[in-house]
Amino acid sequence: MTSSAFDRLEALRDEILSWSPTDAESLEAFRSQFIGSRNVIKPLMGEIREVPDERKKAFGQLINEVKELATVRYEEAKNQTHTGRPEAGNTLQLDLTAPGEPIEMGSRHPVSITMNRIVRIFGRMGFTVAEEREIEDDWHNFSAMNTPEDHPARDMQDTYYLRDYPELLLRTHTSSVQARTMMAHKPPIRIIAPGRVYRNETISARSHCQFHQVEGLYIDRGVSFADLKQTLLHFSREMYGASTQIRLRPSYFPFTEPSAEMDVSCFICNGKGCHVCKHTGWVEIMGCGMVDPQVLINCGIEPEEFTGFAFGMGIERQAMMLYGITDIRWLFENDLRFLRQFAAAR
Ligand code: PHE
Repeated sequence: MTSSAFDRLEALRDEILSWSPTDAESLEAFRSQFIGSRNVIKPLMGEIREVPDERKKAFGQLINEVKELATVRYEEAKNQTHTGRPEAGNTLQLDLTAPGEPIEMGSRHPVSITMNRIVRIFGRMGFTVAEEREIEDDWHNFSAMNTPEDHPARDMQDTYYLRDYPELLLRTHTSSVQARTMMAHKPPIRIIAPGRVYRNETISARSHCQFHQVEGLYIDRGVSFADLKQTLLHFSREMYGASTQIRLRPSYFPFTEPSAEMDVSCFICNGKGCHVCKHTGWVEIMGCGMVDPQVLINCGIEPEEFTGFAFGMGIERQAMMLYGITDIRWLFENDLRFLRQFAAAR
């Protein structure tokens, strides 16, 4: 009963969307069917009583949406028939010498600009882009990546699980794309995985519950830590300038061994010390390491034959440093006054 009220509403919406006027009569028929005092949407409103409490809100919203859609379609169609088909006494007054309406050009979002730059640099080194779903299962996001059941990263504090599907979650990193790629392809594998990720963090000037990453994965025979280092050095110089230095600090990730944190020499002060590098001369950019053999095994790759490296970096932080943005929330608010400042950037 209730689902059928939903279904009928949805059918009405589709009907409205696919309708187009043929003449004044069909316009009037549309008006009386969907907008007039005996329109077909009204009786459905009464059926909200039948809808279970938790779906009432969605039902109400859908009703409003359909009503609004009908009005908008009707107004559009009315204007079309008035101006598009001049009748006697209603001739179009066109000034063919008038200058055109200016075309508003959008601008790219600073996160996209930064991400595209990173993708282009790795593209020139032979990495191809791999994209995957944002709603992941536990296995691809955690287990395949050698992150044990009791690892704190799995904690409800950090990960958004889907309420009705506890085995599904919003991916916390694009490492899940690495897992899916290894499962589907044989080495050599050379991919970068740009995309949006989610973590249950308090929103502040420095952190957000959604952000973007670019992760990379290279697997082949004989890939070594020296390859990792040289690839990341080349990337850093393309990204932050030819005189950029890098340094690798030992670190830990469940999916790489050995693991490192990579810093670049501060591109604002060239290592002299400023507020961006907090007077250390170095800025932390990414995590990286040699793919743990267990990860290869989990994903069906023979670790005696193949080795690989992986890395992962957050985009927002780099965009903020590159453009001097002091609050991460600006990147998600879509305030045109902020976004228009990037109109000239590519
Ligand atoms: N997945 C890690 C993160 O989200 C980044 C990373 C990727 C580190 C690959 C090492 C190797 O923080």
